[in-house]
Amino acid sequence: MQDLGNIKKIMDTKYLYINTIGCQMNVYDSGQISKRLRPLGYRITESLDKAHLIILNTCAIREKAQQKAFSFLGRLAGLKRKRSGLVIGVGGCVAQQEGYKILEKLPYVDFVFGTDAIARLPSIIRKIESKKDRIADIKISEIINDSDYVVDSYTEKTASFITIMQGCNNFCTYCVVPYVRGRERSRSPEIIIDEIKHLVDSGVKEVTLLGQNVNSYGIKERLCSFSELLYRINEIDGLLRIRFTTSHPKDLSEELIYSFKNLEKLCNHIHLPVQSGSDRILKRMNRKYTKDQYLRKIDKLRDICPDIAVTSDFIVGFPGETEADFKETLNLINKVRYDSIFAFMYSDRQNAPAADFKNKISYQEKKDRLQRLLKIQTDISDKKNERFLGSTQMVLVDGLSKKQSCIDSEERYSIQWTGRIPSNRIVNFTQNGNFNSRHEVLTGKMVKVVIEKAFSHSLYGQTFNPHFS
Ligand code: SAH
Ligand code: SF4
Ligand code: F3S
Repeated sequence: MQDLGNIKKIMDTKYLYINTIGCQMNVYDSGQISKRLRPLGYRITESLDKAHLIILNTCAIREKAQQKAFSFLGRLAGLKRKRSGLVIGVGGCVAQQEGYKILEKLPYVDFVFGTDAIARLPSIIRKIESKKDRIADIKISEIINDSDYVVDSYTEKTASFITIMQGCNNFCTYCVVPYVRGRERSRSPEIIIDEIKHLVDSGVKEVTLLGQNVNSYGIKERLCSFSELLYRINEIDGLLRIRFTTSHPKDLSEELIYSFKNLEKLCNHIHLPVQSGSDRILKRMNRKYTKDQYLRKIDKLRDICPDIAVTSDFIVGFPGETEADFKETLNLINKVRYDSIFAFMYSDRQNAPAADFKNKISYQEKKDRLQRLLKIQTDISDKKNERFLGSTQMVLVDGLSKKQSCIDSEERYSIQWTGRIPSNRIVNFTQNGNFNSRHEVLTGKMVKVVIEKAFSHSLYGQTFNPHFS
């Protein structure tokens, strides 16, 4: 009887392939999609050919991300012709923006679901499976219900994202997010803590709390402040590290700055996107702070937490950005000396007011400015990373590195691991003294690593006597 049961289970198993484009929030959402569809018998596959259901989770932040989505969908047309019964769904921010238009344009897409429709996915898919209907669900609610997220967790990861709030009320003039994620709304502290406890029970040691502007956490629903939430999460047994992203510079509070000093689990890293160093451009972007106000916040952060790593986002070639404006941005980078940055060429977005602004910057000029900016930052990152040479760092191990293994000068083989230090730098390392012998699995362990090499985007070292936690 038992064998028959197992055979039935294997026959009932359907495979789900998810392609995720975009930010950490989309990564978290894709995890939620797979958890929602497990009770329907769907298991994740890495193979497109094996999949019964293919879901594309899209991003609309820049033209390039949107193009990436449509080019992947283009590849699926042939697959659908070859395989009857294959179901294709499009979710995420492009789905939210385009809705029915995707169904009209791409006849082989079965359903479209927006950024707030993940909890309704099982019913959408059941309808499609039974009626062979096509559906677009892009409704966004004004509040988050506890049942909107699956809290139960099973994961093999060391570090996990967790969305604590949705939407944005800031309306920066270049940005599509308020139109595709709706207005700000937060999950209750109790449900967030419950989810983190489940994550910790399944082996997670580090969480990154996600929101477009975490400083507005709970304001609409009159929940606790974001700093209070951090204090409560800091109490969770078994959790070793807490991170969060993103904090809008205009709303970064003293209370939050002091959390870096007071909470031992809060990592010494803040991502504080500035976008531009020119007050004129910041105004046109509707960022609601000046360069000086931003710099004062950085000073305060470094005053309270001297070794804090600061990272940022930049947009180059915003409409009307002159060479003088751009030089202000370069000056800001030289002044702050970020640990690392993300920089993007401005891209017109549907609904975002800047799309109608005059004096657009040419593609070539944007590209040149981006390269000039990145060159300055690469030199700074190199120098900052060199300071780690010879030091011993506590690395929380994520797993095997991309390289997986290496061979030393004496042709001895060793496994190569990867992890992060509190400032969010990636450290790849090998286990010295353990060449050619049995290797312990270090994933999820806290290990002391001596840094031997520094690159722009990572560090490299060895662990001699792993200290486990
Ligand atoms: N909520 C976060 C980040 C949102 S999107 C915040 O406020 O910081 C991530 C980054 O994408 C932004 O910080 C910005 O640098 C970039 N970005 C957003 N819209 C863009 C556009 N239209 N063109 C180019 N870059 C953009
Ligand atoms: Fe976009 Fe600005 Fe909101 Fe960030 S704060 S998501 S950049 S509108
Ligand atoms: Fe992209 Fe949507 Fe995130 S537009 S950056 S996936 S919120």
